[in-house]
Formats: sequence, C-alpha cells, structure tokens
Amino acid sequence: MELITGSQPNVLKAIGNTPIVKLNHIGQDVESDIYVKLEFMNPGGSIKDRIGAYMLDEAIKDGTLKPGGTIIEGTSGNTGVGLAMWAAVHGYKCIFVLADKQSKEKIDNLRAFGAKVVVCPTNVEPEDPRSYYSVSKNLAKTIPNSFYVNQYDNLHNRNTHYNWTAPEIVEQTKGDFDTFMATVGTGGTISGIGKYLKEKMPHVKNIGIDCEGSIVAHYARTGEYCEAKSYVLEGVGEDFIPENYDFDVIDDWEIIGDKESFLMTRRLLKEEGIYAGGSAGAAICGALKYARKLDKPERILVVLHDSGNRYASKIYNDDWMSDNGYLDSSFDVQIKDVLKKLGKSADVVTIQDTSSIGEALDLMVSKGISQLPVLTTDGQLKGLVTETKLLRPVLMGEFSKSDNISLAFDNKYKTVDANELLSNVADALLQKEVALVTDAGKVVDILTDIDVLKYISETRTY
Ligand SMILES: Cc1ncc(COP(=O)(O)O)c(C=O)c1O
Repeated sequence: MELITGSQPNVLKAIGNTPIVKLNHIGQDVESDIYVKLEFMNPGGSIKDRIGAYMLDEAIKDGTLKPGGTIIEGTSGNTGVGLAMWAAVHGYKCIFVLADKQSKEKIDNLRAFGAKVVVCPTNVEPEDPRSYYSVSKNLAKTIPNSFYVNQYDNLHNRNTHYNWTAPEIVEQTKGDFDTFMATVGTGGTISGIGKYLKEKMPHVKNIGIDCEGSIVAHYARTGEYCEAKSYVLEGVGEDFIPENYDFDVIDDWEIIGDKESFLMTRRLLKEEGIYAGGSAGAAICGALKYARKLDKPERILVVLHDSGNRYASKIYNDDWMSDNGYLDSSFDVQIKDVLKKLGKSADVVTIQDTSSIGEALDLMVSKGISQLPVLTTDGQLKGLVTETKLLRPVLMGEFSKSDNISLAFDNKYKTVDANELLSNVADALLQKEVALVTDAGKVVDILTDIDVLKYISETRTY
C-alpha cells in the first residue's frame, strides 16, 4: 500500500530538520543574539540519532555490518539510543558499554530497547582493561559477527554532520549568522559542521566548548597532553583525543565547569522553556562567555545536543543538585546582610554581670525579649540568660530573685562575627542554639532559628 501523504516510512526518516530558535531572556547582558538548534527534538532525544543511523548505513554499505550481526558500542547513552533505534528498525542486536557515572535514565532507556548494557568504572585510564573503551573493544574481538561502531574514531561520525547537519543549518539560515558553537566530546559535531561551514561560509567562526577536567581544548591550544581530571557533565570533554577531531576548522575554545552548566541548564527551562541536557547549559555558558569578549555584537548559533528527560533525577532534581553543592545555598550570605535584610536593629539589650536574676527577669518582661546577653563592666560577653533556662527554676523556687544572674546562664549559644557566613551557624541555630553576633568583639545582635526561617522565606525563590 502507498504511504499516507505527509508520513514517513519509519522513525529513522523522522531524524533531522530540527528547529532553530532565538533565546529571549538569557543573555540580556550581552549585545549579541544567541540562537539554539534544538537537536533534542530528534526522535531518540539527541543529535546522536543522526550519527547512529548514518554510521550504520555506511557499515551496511561497506560490508562491515552483516545480516544477523551484533552492534557493539562504548557510549554515554545518546549514541546508544541512536544505534538502538536503527537496530530496532532493521532487526539487529546491540550491546552497549557505559561508564558508571551515566544517569540511570540513560541505562534504563537502552535496556528498554532490548539492548544488553555493560556498566564499567568511570575513574580508570582509557587503556585500563576495565575502562569502557577497552571493554567494548574486547567484546567486539570475542563476539563473532559483531561490529564495533567506535564513534570516537569512526570518521562517519563527523561525516554525518558534514553531509547532513551542516547542509541543513546552511539551508535553514541561508548562512545568516556569524559564529557557530558546540560542546565537544568525540569531536564529530564541531569538526563535521565546522568543516562544511568553513567551506561554504568562510566568514563564520567555529568555537568549541570543552569542560573543566577535559584535555581537548588544552591539547588543541598547545599540542600537548595534560592530566585529565574528573567532572560530572555527561557527553562533554574527553581524556584522550579521538580521531574525529579536525582542529584546523576550530578557531577558538571556551571552557566551562559542572556547576555553571547545571545552573544554566535549569535557567534554560525556567526562562526559555527549553528542556535540554547538561551539555546545553555548558553550551550557553560558553556562548555567553564568548559574547562578553566581543567588540561588536554577533549572531551566534549554538547546538543543544540532548533532551532534559535523561537528567530528571540529576540536574532537574533539587536534592541531587544541593547534595552535590550545585545549588547556591541560602546560607552562603554574610550574617550582617541577613540582619540588614531582616531589618533588625543593632541596639541589642544587655545586662551587667553584677545584676540579679530578678533584674534580668524584669528587663526581659519590660522589653519583651527572650534572650539577654550578660556583659562584664568593660563590655565583654560573660554569658547568656534565656527565658527557657530561667522559667522553670524561678517557678519551682530553685532560684531566688536576688541570686546573681550567673546562676541562670544558658550555655546553648554560639558567638559569631557579623562578617561570617550564615552557613557557619546554620546548624547550631537549627538545633535551637542562639547566635550572639559580634562586631570587633562586642555583641551587636542576636540571631535565632526563627530569624533564619524568616530570612529564607523572604529571599528564597522556589
Ligand atoms: C549530551 C552531549 N553533548 C555533547 C556531546 C558532544 O558531541 P560530539 O561527540 O559530537 O563532540 C555529546 C556526545 O556524546 C553528548 O552526548
């Protein structure tokens, strides 16, 4: 039967033709305009659908993948989905080898395609037999009729972008932009698109975006290897230089860290409605960093590689973000600023250490206060009297009103300088201790758990 009009014969034909949209809120502090190509709108949720289909079509053409064969790949997940989608349509088996830092969503997703998934440790050298590079190569050697795709060194990765993604971009934009930017992993995206753009639109600059801890940008700039460090971003950066890199077409580099990338990824959703993965946040941070250095405004086109779906339990999860120190804490603020925000006066009520319990009680009642710092005659802090500590002994007749105040001292307090961060006393306050705030050694104010709650409710946006 004929296909219905407007339909595609299978899902693979729905890959590509992804939209390009302008950012309207992020980047208001730069004069340049940032446009993003939404590659997560491919059916498998990432740009890697393109290379999955292209590399396997080529493997069939040149006979390296034969009927009934097994497709093997070491992949951070997105390429796995692209390959698994092609394998589902064409009826092939897949084995994927992943590093254990990859999100659970990615692993579950691949298993749902019917693929076998092998998980390997992240923090081992690529040459280590346990690394996902080594394990995938060894599986390919031992499993008969298997094809090791190897997106790192298989040049059909960058050819995909040279022959498909880049012509699509030029066709969509008619070449009407100044700079192209993409995060780098295998190097396929920036090298393939970059080469085509250099040929067809020589005025365009290609900027690679690498992550802190990766060796790629350092190698590109110096021709030397450096020590790779661990990082959390997925898909960006490498600890070796894959064959797909064509450094001749990359004009410059920006380097971005985990935290700024994740916070920007969340801003993309909140401020632009764009639900993308962590490398998209890195890409936008890179574009902004680049734009801030320009003398005159440019139109910058940035690829967003994958969808936010795969990061629901990480970047989009407040607990994960805060447990890993990526959320700016409400407590990272100086105490003097908290007091200012709360509009607290600095004229704290105190009492002399020669006073009696009765005098302290009268003062607390007349001023309507619950804590009273006790000072020596030269103004040094001697102790603290609190209503909780006073009430029971006075009611039970354990103290008489004429007893010296020192009998009723409460030791549940901490002294803290007004310049210190609230985080230094947050735990104590939440344990119902009182913070006596000092300036040049003199008590100037008191901070309680209720003050902190007030501060959080006034300042934190949820
Ligand atoms: C989420 C994500 N962003 C960026 C990249 C980098 O793209 P490329 O490998 O083409 O350099 C990848 C590659 O794995 C990726 O998965």
